[in-house]
Amino acid sequence: MGEVGAPALQYQEHVNPQWVRLLDALEMNVRYVKCAGAELYAADGRRFLDFLSGYCVHNTGHNHPAIVSALQRELDRQGPAMLQSHVSELAGELAERLCRLAGGRLNKVFFCSSGSEGVEAAIKFARAHTGRNGLVYASGAFHGLTCGALSLMDDPFWRAGFGPLLADTEAVPFGDLVALERALRSRTIGAFIVEPVQSEAGICLPPAGYLEAAQAACRKYGTLFVLDEVQTGMFRTGRFLAAHHYGLDPDIVILAKALSGGLVPSGAVLISNNVYDSVYSSLKRAIVHTSTFGENNLAMRAGLATLDVLERENLGARAVSMGDVLRTRLREAVSGYEMVQEIRGVGLLNGIVFTAPRKLSLRAPFEAFRKIHPAMFGQLVVMRLFRDHGILTQICGNNFMVLKAAPPLIVDAGHIDEFVGAMTAVADLMHTSASFWTEALGLARRVVNF
Ligand SMILES: Cc1ncc(COP(=O)(O)O)c(C=O)c1O
Repeated sequence: MGEVGAPALQYQEHVNPQWVRLLDALEMNVRYVKCAGAELYAADGRRFLDFLSGYCVHNTGHNHPAIVSALQRELDRQGPAMLQSHVSELAGELAERLCRLAGGRLNKVFFCSSGSEGVEAAIKFARAHTGRNGLVYASGAFHGLTCGALSLMDDPFWRAGFGPLLADTEAVPFGDLVALERALRSRTIGAFIVEPVQSEAGICLPPAGYLEAAQAACRKYGTLFVLDEVQTGMFRTGRFLAAHHYGLDPDIVILAKALSGGLVPSGAVLISNNVYDSVYSSLKRAIVHTSTFGENNLAMRAGLATLDVLERENLGARAVSMGDVLRTRLREAVSGYEMVQEIRGVGLLNGIVFTAPRKLSLRAPFEAFRKIHPAMFGQLVVMRLFRDHGILTQICGNNFMVLKAAPPLIVDAGHIDEFVGAMTAVADLMHTSASFWTEALGLARRVVNF
């Protein structure tokens, strides 16, 4: 259980008491006192290994010293941090580097402060450029929880109770070109917005040729091809953009999360000149879409320092090699267990896919707990990894049967060994020990009132 000191009580009272209750129920309410690289240190002396990276925020590891010191120097400089009435040199420098790394037709950047805000901008830009309101997205997507971004997510859990969202949005199954083409044929669709690798949907890799053909279909029907690389970008999958694995040339790419070293909120929407010109089309429209904090110096400095680290430490290549080691080792260790269906991923964005057991002795408790809550099984795995083995990870937000393995890109072979050892122990326990399932009862009792 969490220590309920004064600050924790204040949080409970004034921020989000249900979040505190949930962390308590999962025995994950830990007070962290220091985070460095891939490791987290708690006030009670425990040390955890981070295999979640704040949902792909910490590609450069926690509190990378080079990024921290760049930020300290930026503060000491006392420059125009948020003047709003000047030309931000740092924004120019960061935009130039992002466009160079992204390549293709991406030549302008709109800066904002979150992934959702980037998706909102992409929606507006696509509508302004095409004069069409329609938006198509892939089922199971996660694009953010503001009203526009949420309109591009079909999971009812996120939408329920929040009233009517944007009209003219339509989901098509990820990987289904026929459905996509059917939707685009109306020529009323401004943008097809898709994660190149769907993360919260369960680390879903695109079928061979899908994204290339989707892009071609978009071009054919005058629809913008928009990639949400909020999780997949910044070398998470091994390349600067996941788009680069498939030779794509998108009209718009959205980046956030790892963009600024996990220290300052920041998002960037990379856009082509012709889309840009449709929005900022005259002097009168020079600030027709802006965001107060977008180009702030701390975020821009963090972005520049983050790119320096990613490039200097060759973290893209490291994501590829460590990702290969991780998947190979995991497959060797756990694919023999009947509840482990698949290990999949690219670079250091990976998922362990579980499936319902066939054996009756396992099937009965599994189904019972699934009835209580579909996420119960996955949370048990998460809880065991955390409490018994000091590993922090989570299940995917829109697919509770997939556990994420997405550590900071600076992980080493020792960290991978530690994760694989822990995962093997938990997989073994769930297949062989009644205590895994009886423990679930305790969790069920704790969460029953949620
Ligand atoms: C793929 C993707 N897009 C957009 C978002 C929204 O980003 P934010 O939470 O910064 O608004 C997320 C958040 O998890 C995401 O995973």
